[in-house]
Amino acid sequence: MMRPVIDEEMLQAALYSLQNEKLVMGESVFKFEEEFARYCNVKYAISIGSGTAALQIALQSLGIGQEDEVLTTPFSFFATSNAVIHAGGRPSFADVEDNGFNLDPSKAAERLTAKTRAIVPVHLYGQPANMDEFRDLADDKGISLVEDACQAHGAEYNGRKVGSLGDVACFSFYSSKNMTVGGDGGMIVTNDAEVADAARSFRDCGRASKYTMSRIGYTARLNTVNAAIGRVQLRKLDRWNQTRRGMANLYRQELEGASGVELPPAETLKERPVYHLFVIRSQHRDKLASYLEKHNVEAAIHYPVPIHLQEPYRARYGYSEGAFPVSERLAGQVLSLPIHATITEEEVRTVSRLVRESD
Ligand SMILES: Cc1ncc(COP(=O)(O)O)c(C=O)c1O
Repeated sequence: MMRPVIDEEMLQAALYSLQNEKLVMGESVFKFEEEFARYCNVKYAISIGSGTAALQIALQSLGIGQEDEVLTTPFSFFATSNAVIHAGGRPSFADVEDNGFNLDPSKAAERLTAKTRAIVPVHLYGQPANMDEFRDLADDKGISLVEDACQAHGAEYNGRKVGSLGDVACFSFYSSKNMTVGGDGGMIVTNDAEVADAARSFRDCGRASKYTMSRIGYTARLNTVNAAIGRVQLRKLDRWNQTRRGMANLYRQELEGASGVELPPAETLKERPVYHLFVIRSQHRDKLASYLEKHNVEAAIHYPVPIHLQEPYRARYGYSEGAFPVSERLAGQVLSLPIHATITEEEVRTVSRLVRESD
C-alpha cells in the first residue's frame, strides 16, 4: 500500500542536503551506505538509483552475463527477472512452495543446468525465503546466491537480517516499500570486497577513477537528497516494522476461521517477516476484491499474472499456461489487504469485518 511517511525531520534533512551537499555523491550518500550496511550487519552497502538497477548491477558484479542462466521465481514483481535480462543473462524459473509464496528449494534444484550461474530467491511480501536450503544448493553447485530483498527490509531468518544471507542482496526504496528515500532508490549489500568495488564502478559510469574507466558502466547513482531522506527513514524502520507486525497479528485474530480465507504463513522462531504486504488467499478472490473496492478499501493483487505469462516472456521464451502451476494458481487467489506503518487498529478491524461479510 502506498502510504509513505514524509515527516518534518525528513524535509529538514532533504533541505539541508540540497543547500549544503553535492547533489550527486554528496556526504549523505556515504553515510546512508555505512548505516545501511551496519543495519544489515554486512561490510559493504552500495546505493543505486533503483532496486531493478541494483539487481542488474549485483549480477554483473558477480561476473554474470551473456549465455548465463539465473534461476528465480516466476511469482514476483517482474523487475526480478527483467534485471537478469538487463545484465545480459537468461532468466530461468522454478515454481514456488506448495504452502507459501516463495521459491521452492527442491523445485529449484531440479531446474539447475550446467549454465546456471546464480539463484535469486525473493523474500516475497517481506517473508524470508528458505535461505538455508538455497545456501546449500548454491554451495553444492558452486554458484552465487543473490537475495532479492526488495520487499523485506528488516526481516530476519535464523536471527540474521535478510541481506546478510546470500553472497549479495538487493533492496528497493520505491515509495510503497517498508522504507523509502522519497522517490526511487536501491541498495546492494555484500561482504565481498571485489563485488562491492565492481558495483561502485558500474553505478558510476564504469569509473576506476575520475577520468579512467574499468568497465562499461551506467549512471545509476542514488541522489544525495534521497540518501538524506533514507537516513532518517532507516532510523524509523524497526518501529514501522513493529507496527506492521502488530497489525498483521490483529488481522490474524480478526480473520481466524473466516470461511474461504487462507491466512499467510505465521511467524516462526526461524522466520521473522516484516509484512510488506499482508496477503490472504481466497477461492473467490475477484468477488472479494470488488466487495472491498465498493467499500473504499484499498486492496490490491500482487501479482495477477506470473512473470512467465507476461507477453514479452511468452514471446521471448515460449512460455504458456501450465508451466508453473502453483504460481498460476496463486495469481488467481491472492489478495493484499491494506497494511502500512500508519494504519490503525480500527481500519484493520473494519477491513476484516468486510472480508467476513463478503462471504
Ligand atoms: C521483489 C522486487 N524486486 C525488484 C523490485 C524492483 O525495485 P525498483 O522498483 O526499485 O526498481 C521490486 C519493487 O519494485 C520488487 O518488489
